[in-house]
Amino acid sequence: MKHSISNDAYDELADAYSAQADTKPHNAYYERPATMSLLDEVDGRKILDAGCGPGIYSKWLLDRGAKVVSIDASEKMLSHARKRTENQGVYYHANMEEGLPFLDNSSFDGILSTLAVGYVRDQKALFAEFHRLLRKGGWFVFSTDHPFSSYRYFKLENYFETQEISCYWTGFGKKVLMPGYYHSLGTICEALSKNGFLIETVLEPKPTEDFRAFSLEKYESLMKFPQFMCIKARKLA
Ligand SMILES: C[S@@+](CC[C@H](N)C(=O)[O-])C[C@H]1O[C@@H](n2cnc3c(N)ncnc32)[C@H](O)[C@@H]1O
Repeated sequence: MKHSISNDAYDELADAYSAQADTKPHNAYYERPATMSLLDEVDGRKILDAGCGPGIYSKWLLDRGAKVVSIDASEKMLSHARKRTENQGVYYHANMEEGLPFLDNSSFDGILSTLAVGYVRDQKALFAEFHRLLRKGGWFVFSTDHPFSSYRYFKLENYFETQEISCYWTGFGKKVLMPGYYHSLGTICEALSKNGFLIETVLEPKPTEDFRAFSLEKYESLMKFPQFMCIKARKLA
């Protein structure tokens, strides 16, 4: 398997990420409540958690009666997911960039991918693969860096160009260079619509009240400008 662009970084961060992401304000009080608000009923449904990380969403889904397949490119992240979910799901160590040929056509009711699709350069190919895996009418919900935020943060010269970006992450107790890709809003939306997805919701989340207690300054900043966005799309036919 080819290493994903962020594989080394996530292997290095896996222990700290797993220990902290349950309560880290940007996840717990910003990204997760927004993404979860977009999900259809999960009880009894088969759901793919693509880029599952330490399995926080996988566990949430399993606890609500879903049948969950979890994949991640980082072996260390995947082992945290297994531990957190007590091996109640099905797990694959896989790089989404290489397709997911071991999963059957039309075999999922829903696909959830949180803060992971930004590590795949060719989102058109990735979303085509997700479309193949979903049953007709199935949903695809994902969160990702808001392109306006990345454009501003990385001081990009070309808004339209899909390009590699990287910055140092220091929020997990060590300094790790995190590479990824920038995609414009149009690139992301086109990767959905050209693959037969209907975009149902584009959510630019605001932090919950709990975030305020953590950092008033960051709370106020996120109330004025988004860092992430969450999209819900549906397979039409
Ligand atoms: C920011 S973490 C998010 C983890 C989890 N979805 C969450 O929200 O807690 C991104 C995850 O995506 C995984 N990832 C990145 N690129 C990937 C790829 N090409 N294929 C599979 N997983 C990938 C990383 O290893 C990492 O675990």
